[in-house]
Amino acid sequence: MEDYIKSIMKEARVFYPPKSFSNKAHIKNIKEYERLYKQSIKNPEKFWAEQAKQLEWFKKWDTVLRNEKNFFKWFEGGKLNVCYNCLDKNIKSGKKEKIALIWEPESGKGKTYTYGQLLKEVCKFANALKKKGVKKGKVVQIYLAMIPELLISMLACARLGAIHSVVFSGFSADSLKDRILDSKSEFLITSDGSFRNGKVCPIKDNADAAIKACPSIKSIIVVKRTNNKIKMKKNRDYWFHELIENEKDFCKAEHMDSEDPLFILYTSGSTGKPKGVLHTQAGYLLYAQQTFKYIFDIRDDDIYFCTADIGWITGHSYIVYGPLANSATTIMYEGAPMYPKPDRFWNIVDKYKVTIFYTAPTAIRALAKEGDKWPNKSNLSSLRLLGTVGEPINPEAWLWYYKVIGKEKCPIVDTWWQTETGGILITPLPGAIPLKPGSATKPFFGIVADIFKENGSKAKVNEGGYLVIKKPWPGMLRTVWNNPKKYKKTYFEKFNVYLTGDSAKIDEDGYFWIMGRLDDVIKVSGHRMGTAEIESSLVSHKSVAEAAVVPFPHKIKGQAIYAFVILKKGNQKSESLKEELKKHVGKTVGPIAKPDKIQFADDLPKTRSGKIMRRMLKAIAEGSSEFGNVSTLADPEVIKKLQEERIL
Ligand code: PRX
Repeated sequence: MEDYIKSIMKEARVFYPPKSFSNKAHIKNIKEYERLYKQSIKNPEKFWAEQAKQLEWFKKWDTVLRNEKNFFKWFEGGKLNVCYNCLDKNIKSGKKEKIALIWEPESGKGKTYTYGQLLKEVCKFANALKKKGVKKGKVVQIYLAMIPELLISMLACARLGAIHSVVFSGFSADSLKDRILDSKSEFLITSDGSFRNGKVCPIKDNADAAIKACPSIKSIIVVKRTNNKIKMKKNRDYWFHELIENEKDFCKAEHMDSEDPLFILYTSGSTGKPKGVLHTQAGYLLYAQQTFKYIFDIRDDDIYFCTADIGWITGHSYIVYGPLANSATTIMYEGAPMYPKPDRFWNIVDKYKVTIFYTAPTAIRALAKEGDKWPNKSNLSSLRLLGTVGEPINPEAWLWYYKVIGKEKCPIVDTWWQTETGGILITPLPGAIPLKPGSATKPFFGIVADIFKENGSKAKVNEGGYLVIKKPWPGMLRTVWNNPKKYKKTYFEKFNVYLTGDSAKIDEDGYFWIMGRLDDVIKVSGHRMGTAEIESSLVSHKSVAEAAVVPFPHKIKGQAIYAFVILKKGNQKSESLKEELKKHVGKTVGPIAKPDKIQFADDLPKTRSGKIMRRMLKAIAEGSSEFGNVSTLADPEVIKKLQEERIL
């Protein structure tokens, strides 16, 4: 493993936060950060207990942290409600008329909700859900695109103490089915269709197809969005607008235990089935609230725009819970970055005078490729802070973002985190930490991050290794839904501290440089895909005998998917079959999982015991000849043939 973890990036430039920014920031300089950071890790429990006072509790906790063999419990004995903290608490402190949510539909006719209005909408829907049998501890599956009802549904669940499980609306019927089967939910919230690039995606049809195999589902609630024709089954399917029509706009917030589940979010790992990452009430909320406050340096007059989809963790923590828990104004955009033209994001920035903008490197690269003329048509002068998330950002894209979008006056927070971590762990604090393009810089308060070598010893300065988090933090996952064994095995077995799955190095200034995943996870356009999921989709096609999937570098997407496929006897290798296989993956997993390249193979490099040597396949896909030791292969000749037939 060690020679595999090479440290590759060299970037010497340092960018200091503008004085005018630092002067007004929550954390104003590196000394202040270092002092607070030291305090926070000297006694994290004391630190978090102090911060937790910023939430509103129905009952104070008894213990701050308890460790049950790496299953961590935060703030046990405490009672609170996440929705109450995101809405009622702000209203009580005078924010009733402040805009909580700006929704920008693809069509452009925006809609806003004040905190007062949002609370009413949430309560109406919570009351409707209650009548359908939703209550504390029940799982509600939400399969919606970026419309206000998605955020309203999540908050309504949180208000009732129901556990929401949002499935990205770009996922296929099969993916939805797998998640419902795992979570055994009885309720599904979806819409007639969703808009994407001006087209209608029939997501209710997907939902209908998915639940054919899901006997647990009793009710489907359907938001009317696109007016396309759908089938509504009597006594099972109900229109959202009809259900809320006569509902009262007040609903009591359930008193939840700190460690009651808040939501499940499925994410890809190294097996064929995605795992349900479980986050609980108090710790998650506290961590989302604190990180949002300090990392986005939020002020009362900010307009904050995160371009992620709420179907991913970034949307959960930094469109919904983090911003609302800080009484911020958050923007939700329904559509695609290039719709109708590549200046859509910049139009939104100007239209709403966005001050903080948070997006993924893949979007930055795609927009940069379209040329400066698009951002240059907009003013962008309202911006004061930029952020990135989801994958490493290459220094060229960073510099474009810094110069062309931020006009060299906006710090960039390159935020490193994961579905499992609940919130950002490694990041600049924008007024305090000088930036090095490509580095996520330093750990957030209370986060003890380190790099371990294979034997568990600490890596040297600039030496690559396993990125680990050595102490628990409130926002961390609590378990894998229905699979505590997997939780222990995946995250704690190797070193008995939290294993991130990423490789990284720390430089001489204590800056972290993330180098990518060490497991079988690929980041395609920032979306997390398991190679095993794509392989099992390929193998489910009638013509495929065996498949192996690896990443290869891609200019825009960061990584793209390369599949080696062995066909069953009697099938002809053809371009049309390749297209059919791509479509098949698109249909069974989702369009983002479609392989970019498919190479038909007669054999794969395997050890004598039959294990596929992915490292070698990755080298072939990348066009490299660094295969390592081939003598362990059952048939070393296989490599040569695969190399000759490599898809360029
Ligand atoms: O490899 C890291 C990469 O994204 C992974 C987590 O993916 P996911 O659970 O989908 O969450 C993404 C949004 C938080 C990590 O293991 N990653 C995330 N942020 C960064 C990153 N890689 C480099 N730099 C980042 N800022």
